[in-house]
Amino acid sequence: MRSLVPVHRRIFLVTGALLAGVLLFTRCFHEAPAENPLIVHPDGQRYAGDAACKSCHRAICDSFPSTAHYLTSRVAEKKYIKGSFAYGENEFVFDAHRKVVMEEQGDGLFQTAFEDGQRGESERFDIVMGSGKKGQTYLYWKDKELYQLPISYFTNRHSWANSPGFAADKPSFQRHIEVRCMECHMTFARRLSSYEYDPDRIIYGVSCERCHGPAGKHVEYQEQHPDERRGRFIVNPAALTRQQQLDVCALCHSGVMKSNSPAWSFLPGDTLSHFFLRNASHIDSVDLDVHANQYGLLTASKCFRTSATMTCSTCHNTHEKEKGDMAVYGRKCMSCHQPASHDFCRFTPPRGFSMEANCVNCHMPVRASKILTLQLSGQHGPAPEMVRSHLIAVYRDMTTIVTGKKQ
Ligand code: HEC
Ligand code: HEC
Ligand code: HEC
Ligand code: HEC
Ligand code: HEC
Ligand code: HEC
Ligand code: HEC
Repeated sequence: MRSLVPVHRRIFLVTGALLAGVLLFTRCFHEAPAENPLIVHPDGQRYAGDAACKSCHRAICDSFPSTAHYLTSRVAEKKYIKGSFAYGENEFVFDAHRKVVMEEQGDGLFQTAFEDGQRGESERFDIVMGSGKKGQTYLYWKDKELYQLPISYFTNRHSWANSPGFAADKPSFQRHIEVRCMECHMTFARRLSSYEYDPDRIIYGVSCERCHGPAGKHVEYQEQHPDERRGRFIVNPAALTRQQQLDVCALCHSGVMKSNSPAWSFLPGDTLSHFFLRNASHIDSVDLDVHANQYGLLTASKCFRTSATMTCSTCHNTHEKEKGDMAVYGRKCMSCHQPASHDFCRFTPPRGFSMEANCVNCHMPVRASKILTLQLSGQHGPAPEMVRSHLIAVYRDMTTIVTGKKQ
């Protein structure tokens, strides 16, 4: 049902001029604010911020900033914004009268509306949402309220695009950002009212303390007890029950859920079903949409249902930017499906074909999302975004596609 599709799932339902974009990585505009030690969860636990982990967990802290989780929300700086500010590439044109120009001005980056050549409203890029792997959208502060800027960025087409769900004929600067967007894209934000937040009490990115819980007490304890070998006052998901481990990720990777608690109430180690209602019709359905519901799809797979141990961590290490090497994933499959065993693949490969490098291509194929389609102006009809299905199964149509390419 259309109304159940959250706004950003329609991010690519955009009318956009097709502009060639280039990624610009130049100087930063303003320094990121210093980590604030006084961010406190409503339950009283103190956050420490990622910077506080580095002295003791150096390797993880060095690799983590390149991940999509870290990058998924940042204080706006040019190096994080994928769209181009270069002359000729920095406009989104609505029609002959109206356009929005992405501008650099002395102290910042702005989206400025123009009508018949007259400057209209101009607001600053304050926050970047989205690593830019698929796309980005941008927010601005008006006092303590957060609003979405009219123009987003669509990576596949290297193009600025009208923000999802916005009117197609003129720019709007009036859209508040929903708290659930923030909850899935930020570690914590102190909420003052429906759309108001304390700008000094935000932890950007899906960062350490999103998966490990507020760590103020852990840092304090470990600093005071340098000989302590065990980590205290911190959640290690590996030590939780399987369902709790899955819930750490399912908070944001099970598509649409109905919340019955204030945002950010759920912390790692809690049971997600106490905080959200899942759509029960998702269970066992091959028709589940492949977009952003990795939890629903994985848990409907025979691998998951028959094995006692499979979690997201069986295949993913969220501390690093994963390199997309399918043979690495293939080896994870083969840790359970050993070639000599009765439950190995029944498919007989052509000579010289690497099974290991292709388990995923045949059994977790990249599929077109049914809800994530993009609409571009001109002759281009709607085209779906491609996403990796987490329903591990036999897809007979993939056999020729995969072996055909590789033979
Ligand atoms: C003063 C040193 C110190 C600081 C700072 C520190 N830790 Fe730790 N942490 C430790 C030690 C020691 C352990 C136990 C050994 C290990 O697992 O690495 C540990 C363990 C952990 C564990 C695993 C716990 C377990 O039960 O297995 C997690 C998760 C963790 N730390 C997260 C963090 C995060 C997140 C931060 C930053 C907010 C942080 N730590 C800051 C010293 C520190
Ligand atoms: C239920 C959690 C959830 C909510 C709510 C949510 N997102 Fe997302 N968002 C995700 C996940 C997970 C992805 C990664 C895409 C995927 O899994 O296909 C994503 C992807 C994105 C991307 C593309 C990032 C990239 O480059 O790949 C943008 C931009 C985005 N979201 C913005 C928003 C905005 C704006 C809102 C609110 C209107 C919002 N999201 C609401 C979880 C959420
Ligand atoms: C998206 C969730 C997520 C984020 C973000 C995250 N971790 Fe973890 N972390 C995990 C999971 C899951 C495990 C357990 C992995 C397993 O099952 O072995 C873990 C394990 C750990 C451990 C235990 C030792 C180890 O290496 O497995 C430490 C220490 C740790 N994390 C520190 C950090 C720090 C520091 C950061 C931020 C720089 C961070 N984590 C960010 C999910 C996360
Ligand atoms: C607070 C919400 C949140 C939590 C908790 C969370 N994720 Fe994510 N995850 C996201 C968002 C948002 C994205 C998309 C980031 C982007 O591209 O902007 C994402 C992206 C990913 C990606 C794609 C990375 C890439 O390079 O494209 C993987 C894999 C992933 N998450 C796995 C996990 C696992 C495993 C866990 C649990 C240990 C987890 N996530 C917990 C929100 C979350
Ligand atoms: C944690 C162990 C584990 C891992 C890892 C694992 N599987 Fe499985 N898988 C199973 C079990 C158990 C079954 C059920 C076997 C049976 O019916 O006897 C299964 C079933 C299957 C089936 C049959 C599905 C059906 O609907 O009939 C396929 C195909 C499959 N796995 C492929 C894979 C692939 C490809 C990977 C890697 C991407 C993988 N598995 C990873 C444990 C695992
Ligand atoms: C059996 C292995 C396996 C398990 C278990 C698994 N994944 Fe994945 N996941 C993959 C593979 C393979 C990819 C594709 C990686 C690539 O293309 O580089 C992927 C990609 C992703 C992406 C990026 C999606 C996209 O379309 O770009 C997200 C998000 C993700 N996984 C989240 C999760 C979450 C959350 C869980 C647990 C509910 C999970 N995964 C469990 C193998 C797995
Ligand atoms: C070229 C596509 C292709 C590749 C690559 C592939 N498979 Fe398969 N797999 C199939 C097909 C097709 C079937 C169904 C065969 C049949 O029933 O006749 C199957 C069946 C299976 C089954 C179900 C066996 C049963 O119990 O009936 C498992 C488990 C499996 N594959 C695992 C794997 C693993 C693990 C890999 C990587 C080492 C892999 N597959 C690589 C196409 C592929």
